[in-house]
Amino acid sequence: MIEEISKKDRIFVFDTSLRDGEQVRGCQLNTIEKIQIAKSLENLGVDVIESGFPVSSPGDFNSVVEISKSVTCATVCALTRAVKNDIDIAVEALKYAKNKRIHTGIGTSSYHIKYKFNSTQNEIIERAVASVKYAKKYIEDIEFYCEDAGRTDNFYLATIVEAVIKAGATVVNIPDTTGYCLPEEYGMKIKFLVENVKGIHNAILSTHCHNDLGMATANTVSGIANGARQIEVTINGIGERAGNTSLEEVVMIIKSHKELNKKTNINTKHIYPISRMISNLMNMPVQANKAIVGRNAFAHSSGIHQDGVLKNRENYEIIDPKDVGIDDNIIALTARSGRAALKYRLNVLGIELSQEKLNSIYENFLKLADRKKDISDADILMLAGKDQESHRVAIEYLQVTSGIGILPVASIFLNIDGKKIAAAASGNGPVDAAIKAVKQIIHKQMAIQEFLIQAINKGSDDVCKVHMQVKHCDVYYYGFASNTDIVAASVEAFINAINKFIK
Ligand code: KIV
Ligand code: ZN
Repeated sequence: MIEEISKKDRIFVFDTSLRDGEQVRGCQLNTIEKIQIAKSLENLGVDVIESGFPVSSPGDFNSVVEISKSVTCATVCALTRAVKNDIDIAVEALKYAKNKRIHTGIGTSSYHIKYKFNSTQNEIIERAVASVKYAKKYIEDIEFYCEDAGRTDNFYLATIVEAVIKAGATVVNIPDTTGYCLPEEYGMKIKFLVENVKGIHNAILSTHCHNDLGMATANTVSGIANGARQIEVTINGIGERAGNTSLEEVVMIIKSHKELNKKTNINTKHIYPISRMISNLMNMPVQANKAIVGRNAFAHSSGIHQDGVLKNRENYEIIDPKDVGIDDNIIALTARSGRAALKYRLNVLGIELSQEKLNSIYENFLKLADRKKDISDADILMLAGKDQESHRVAIEYLQVTSGIGILPVASIFLNIDGKKIAAAASGNGPVDAAIKAVKQIIHKQMAIQEFLIQAINKGSDDVCKVHMQVKHCDVYYYGFASNTDIVAASVEAFINAINKFIK
């Protein structure tokens, strides 16, 4: 029998996809996209949405303001350093939030104290206490982070945690910033704090684990098994370097392992759509074998497994895909599918569109379905993404001749603010020729720094995705496109990046 889950065993989910997750190079979102994600996170059932670091840029400030206006139930949180000006700006950004939290903190490991702050342990405690007291004047809910707590001596950590709780911190975050801890070591750190900090019951301890050694999920689970009551996570485990703990993994571990006696407020059926939405908006593909949300997470390929699953699903599956929002009776999309089928698939992928947009995507869908018999989710996302773009520069026409023993030549027609301009160029390959033709029309100082072509599924009729990093006036811009034609996708990605600096 499932034991009654007591209030103490309720785990609060703090999502930091829009802050720690969004710090990834090339994955930046605009305010409208952030609002869309914040609303979906709220719908998913997260308790706290970390919406940004307001002092870092006017764009981040504005996103926190707009998210605060649109979120109704979840707590909206803003990050600061233990610095008065950061706190002032975060308080201002959170003005419209119904439920708000300041997340302030400072590095506590000997590395940070010595090499980052050139300070002492006592001075760091003073700064920590002062920042909590200062923030508390404006906002009741104050979370304090001890950056690099994973490598902080436990006795010193206990002293600073006790001091900030006394100063009014409601939540204390114990980040394994470098992803260094072993699961047992991280769990023991939490247990040590639970057992040695006076007043610990006046605050909630939070996990915040990075995945540098692939242990973020294990460390987080060890943290909650030892007394942490909040988990800091991101969708798809996105985040700097190897990323943060992934929300879907910990939530499904808690749901599957009843003996842990923990419970979250997450409606797991929304996991897959939001995973797709974030991957799509951030142009960040999910690894095919990623637990819970990867393309192959529920795909059985070996004969023995297929036979076993057909006899009884539980032979090889510990999670019903429907529980995470994957409908395995996926309606196959073909040239004969109607708008309703397309709309259903778009909704499963986290995309909701007006009837007008749906109609225009449907037209493109039919054209693609005529060329490609197996329409995948990536194709649908590509079609939806294309429709949402409205930029100054658009490709009207592109023709490329290439092969063995001939000089690759490209001719292109660009539409810039309604004016059509043509150019032709040769290059050392078809992509080089086409990019040179574009550069004959757009005379800007720009250089391609990174160029990644990725096939999505398999087969020669596959769609390829192109990510491109373009440097213009010392700033990096990221372009993204997908197409069944590699050269077209490359030029589209280039134009996509260009559109970001000639707005
Ligand atoms: O990893 C970390 O230490 C952080 C803090 C700023 C909370 O992200
Ligand atoms: Zn972090």
